[in-house]
Parts: sequence; C-alpha cells; structure tokens
Amino acid sequence: MATERTLAMIKPDAVKLNVLGEVFSAIEGAGLRPVALKRVRLSRPQAEGFYAVHRDRPFFNDLTAFMTEGPAVIMVLEGENAISVWRGLLGATNPADAEDGTLRKRFGASIQCNGFHGSDATDTAGFEISHMFGGVEIAD
Ligand code: CMP
Repeated sequence: MATERTLAMIKPDAVKLNVLGEVFSAIEGAGLRPVALKRVRLSRPQAEGFYAVHRDRPFFNDLTAFMTEGPAVIMVLEGENAISVWRGLLGATNPADAEDGTLRKRFGASIQCNGFHGSDATDTAGFEISHMFGGVEIAD
C-alpha cells in the first residue's frame, strides 16, 4: 500500500448537475481526502495543455471545447492507492460501460461528457497536478 496523490476533476457537465455533496461523500467514503481544491473555468490553452497526450486524437477539439464550456472543480486527492481508488469510484471512461453505482454511471452522459477525470498513473498524476496547481495551493 502506498500513499499517493491523484488529480481529480469534476468536469463542467457534472458541475452543472450540482452534485458536489454526493461526489465528496464518495471520496470520503473511500478514505481519500482533498489536499487541494478549486473551482475554475479553464481557458482553451489550459485545457489543451492538460490533454496534450490526446492532441492527435479525433476528439481532441471537441473535448477541449467541452472542457472550457463552464467551471470545473479540480482537486488533488491523497490516500492509500489514491489513483486506483479514485478511478474505481469513477468507473469506465464511457458511462455506458461503467459499473452500477460508479460516478460516471450515475452522472456521466457520454464518452466525452463523462463527468469526471482521474490520473491513470503516478507520472501522469505528477504532470496533471503541477499543470493545475501551484505548490502553495496544496496543503496536506
Ligand atoms: P478522461 O478520463 O478525462 O480522459 C480523456 C478524455 O477524453 C475522456 O475522459 C473523455 O472525456 C474523452 N474521450 C475519450 N475517448 C473519447 C472518444 N472516443 N470520443 C470522445 N471523447 C473521448
């Protein structure tokens, strides 16, 4: 077991649903805690930088446009195996394939508007956390 940090995002579609309490309840129930948190409306360059790994994918333009359509809630979650625990709470990328009870099944609408993001590995978590937060914004 390792204490990890992951970048967690509630995307604009899920922010609009006004279900922050239910999301935080799931986070706390899984033994994770937010050590940084903010609500921001990403600029197009910020969204493009965040998803740079997907730059050549056909959905890149639509994805980065969607991510700037409204405010997102962005967090750093800390806890034992935080990366896989948060991804487990989210379920599969496509809400249609996500397991019952997962956040994407409950609140996601489509493979693009899937409500949430979670880092997939420690190196991507490091990149994504530093892309979204300055050091003084993280307090453990
Ligand atoms: P996320 O976990 O944030 O990582 C990359 C995002 O790209 C993903 O969630 C979806 O929002 C989006 N995405 C992945 N695959 C597709 C796809 N086939 N079509 C549209 N959007 C996608």
